[in-house]
Amino acid sequence: MSSLLVDDIGELVTNVPTPGGGPLGLRRGVALLVEAGRVVWIGPSRYAPAADRRIDAGGGAVLPGFVDSHAHLVFAGDRAAEFAARMAGEPYTGGGIRTTVGATRAASDDDLRDTVRRLRDEAMRQGTTTMEIKSGYGLTVADEARSLRIAAEVTAETTFLGAHVVPAEYAGRPDDYVGLVCGPMLTAATPYARWVDVFCERGAFDADHARAILTVGQAAGLGLRLHANQLGPGPGVRLGVELGAASVDHCTHLSDADVDALAGSATTDGSTVATLLPGAEFSTRSPYPDARRLLDAGVTVALATDCNPGSSYTSSMPFCVALAVREMRMTPAEAVWAATAGGARALRRTDVGVLRPGARADLMILDAPSHLHLAYRPGVPLIRQVLHNGVPQCRL
Ligand code: NIG
Ligand code: FE
Repeated sequence: MSSLLVDDIGELVTNVPTPGGGPLGLRRGVALLVEAGRVVWIGPSRYAPAADRRIDAGGGAVLPGFVDSHAHLVFAGDRAAEFAARMAGEPYTGGGIRTTVGATRAASDDDLRDTVRRLRDEAMRQGTTTMEIKSGYGLTVADEARSLRIAAEVTAETTFLGAHVVPAEYAGRPDDYVGLVCGPMLTAATPYARWVDVFCERGAFDADHARAILTVGQAAGLGLRLHANQLGPGPGVRLGVELGAASVDHCTHLSDADVDALAGSATTDGSTVATLLPGAEFSTRSPYPDARRLLDAGVTVALATDCNPGSSYTSSMPFCVALAVREMRMTPAEAVWAATAGGARALRRTDVGVLRPGARADLMILDAPSHLHLAYRPGVPLIRQVLHNGVPQCRL
């Protein structure tokens, strides 16, 4: 079995809390050994076992790969003109979703596949080794099923978002559309989906519709996640906690009761994570979520890109980390944790977002000596190498 030693590491972020290493479990002077796609050993460099191959990290920091737990990659076209209009003062309402639905329905499987792969590769070059991908721009039985089938070609973390908006052909008949989502659409989506999600927001789906969809999705064996409290206050966050969702995403407009519910959330599989998506606030010129309020209340926080052609057309987790630090007053350590271990919690995964023996060998090597540089040097391509399942992705 071929082994690979990563050596000359300036700083190793393990996310295994240690007395001296804080929540990031920082270690120095260590090397890391990979076999069969897993981390098998971490220890002082001088005791490193012999290995078939060696990667010299050159004194750079090594971190777990980013876990981007919220992305919408299956779409066609773009909405650059909508972005330009927003930057000239137009508000974001989510109404452009229907434009992307039209383009997506008209696209071939190969066009959709090319976009998914291009964005997945773009994300990987920026350190993302686990990526959740949603449907939600098809909104017919056949188009939702093919969106998920194409997403499942590149990730195990696929999410059925048939309840993104009510499509034009169901205008004024939301109950009928919810019936379709809960019936034939869910049946067609389930073989390709791990999760079910609902955009619970004024103008999309209300709490009754969201509850109905999430309940039948759960009965079909899917885990729960929710788009909640993005554009205004609402019932989504508390509904997600009540139903034991793995994550409620956006969390931009929260009441004290929402924060208390998140802080008190607990199921046998973990708490409900608040996933913050600062790329959406950046790109819609909206106020950022109050990350400090959540963290200070003891809520588990994740960061993700929300990569989509409307509200957040970025695949860059380093950009989200920088925004979280600068605009949401997260410390660099909190932001890095949220973008790695936090994302793993939001997907209820224990094998990623962490570097310890037995974990997946998903990691990035920085052209910088510490994780601080991810926020300190915004917009700079600091990621020199990425290992996914132990396989180097970049030519050095
Ligand atoms: O997460 N909020 C709903 N869905 C996406 C936006 C999709 C779009 O504008 O195309 C989001 O921001
Ligand atoms: Fe989203």
